[in-house]
Amino acid sequence: MSKPQHSSGLMPVPAHLQKYIDQRDWLNELRDLFYPEFISVDAAELEHFGRDWTRVYTPDPLAVVFPRTTLEVSHFLKWCFDRDIAVVPSGGRTGLAGGAIAARKEIVLSLDRMRDIGPVNVLERTVRVQAGAITEAVHIAAKPQGLLWPVDFASKGSSTVGGNIATNAGGVRVIRYGLTRNWVLGLTVVLMDGRILELNGALEKNNTGIDLRHLFIGSEGILGVITEAVLKLEPLPPESDVMLLGVLDLPHVFKLFERVRQSGQALQAFELMSRDCLNVIREVRGLQVPLSPAAEYGVLIEVERPYTDEILESWLSAPGVVDGVMAQSPAEARQLWELREGVAETLSGMGILHKHDLSLPISRLEAFMSEWATRIPRDYAGFTPYVFGHIGDGNLHVNVMKPESMSVEAFRARCAEMDHDLFSYVQECQGSVSAEHGIGLNKRHLLKYTRTPDEIALMKAMKQVFDPKGLLNPGKIFE
Ligand code: MLT
Ligand code: ZN
Repeated sequence: MSKPQHSSGLMPVPAHLQKYIDQRDWLNELRDLFYPEFISVDAAELEHFGRDWTRVYTPDPLAVVFPRTTLEVSHFLKWCFDRDIAVVPSGGRTGLAGGAIAARKEIVLSLDRMRDIGPVNVLERTVRVQAGAITEAVHIAAKPQGLLWPVDFASKGSSTVGGNIATNAGGVRVIRYGLTRNWVLGLTVVLMDGRILELNGALEKNNTGIDLRHLFIGSEGILGVITEAVLKLEPLPPESDVMLLGVLDLPHVFKLFERVRQSGQALQAFELMSRDCLNVIREVRGLQVPLSPAAEYGVLIEVERPYTDEILESWLSAPGVVDGVMAQSPAEARQLWELREGVAETLSGMGILHKHDLSLPISRLEAFMSEWATRIPRDYAGFTPYVFGHIGDGNLHVNVMKPESMSVEAFRARCAEMDHDLFSYVQECQGSVSAEHGIGLNKRHLLKYTRTPDEIALMKAMKQVFDPKGLLNPGKIFE
């Protein structure tokens, strides 16, 4: 028999926490152990720090703490470990899978006051940072040295390095640089019982058994709290050009991709937006979209220089490319990127969305997308799918908007049916239910479409090793 769950899908608050809810003397104990501003129970802060960018669960943390050092994190986790109090690590909370939600009286451990960025080591091409450092701040610190931390996405002004690493974040440069995992040399991690692990330092090569660092990358905060990292930097790329091409239909998008790939030119991005996405960018966000309505898709390409006129010409004259613009200045390049990066935010402001972040081998993506484009109007009448994503990485985002006439409950129920269809098909095509957003709370029920029972059992066994009491980010990835 399955365990009883709240209607929210979450387990009930553990009974032993009632005394912490009723009596607040433990707050003073923590203030004495650390300092007064270490902990907050201010209602607005609890609401703010108890949630991420998903809006599915109602935040309900017990408190939020703001340590400044790894040692403070260690002492605090040990304190919680001894009292069986669960903890939710919290970075920029820009995640889209509910991985940073505290809805069951956990204490939120915010890394907001751990934002130090050390000096850039030009010889090593590394920088040591605290986990709360903002992604874009790392870019800014590295740039004067001619270096780059190539983890990049629309939320880089709010997301944190710790969150990027804990979710092995993707983004808009994966086609060029791969996922966050590639750009992390060392980690400092605190386990729930307070033990501190220093993993790999600043070593590029270290062949000494299992590299534990990689267990923490992408583990969504369920194994340990990442407090510091040594990031690997890359020389800034050559200047690049950004273009937006209008493409007639899906088969031509993939033919264009093949042509672009085969040219051998270094790409910084190959991104897709459907006409529906471009329309909301135009009509709702009020931005100018310099493409004719004949184009069913917009493709944003960022290409490194140098390249020849012949290469460019062959892309622009590819069959099915109906029009296009090329940015003539960095400001224009920014404007083109705004069209792509604004899609998700604009859609979120328009209504209730059901979001997908799926991944497929690129060679199967076209067939998958056309099959799905047939199934949605046939089987899910009234659903408007907004299709966009990092198509050059095989990563598709499909956002389905709740029809106005449908109740939220009916919409959620219908989406659950659709998910089963969609992800059974993803499984058949050897894809993944989450390319870059993670599993968190939102996609736990989908894990089985990508991971086998053996894999899930091994993940659970690993959780048991690192966090035997199940206190760290409980309920995320799996119950
Ligand atoms: C994006 O590619 O724009 C992001 O992953 C956001 C999203 O999918 O909602
Ligand atoms: Zn994305």
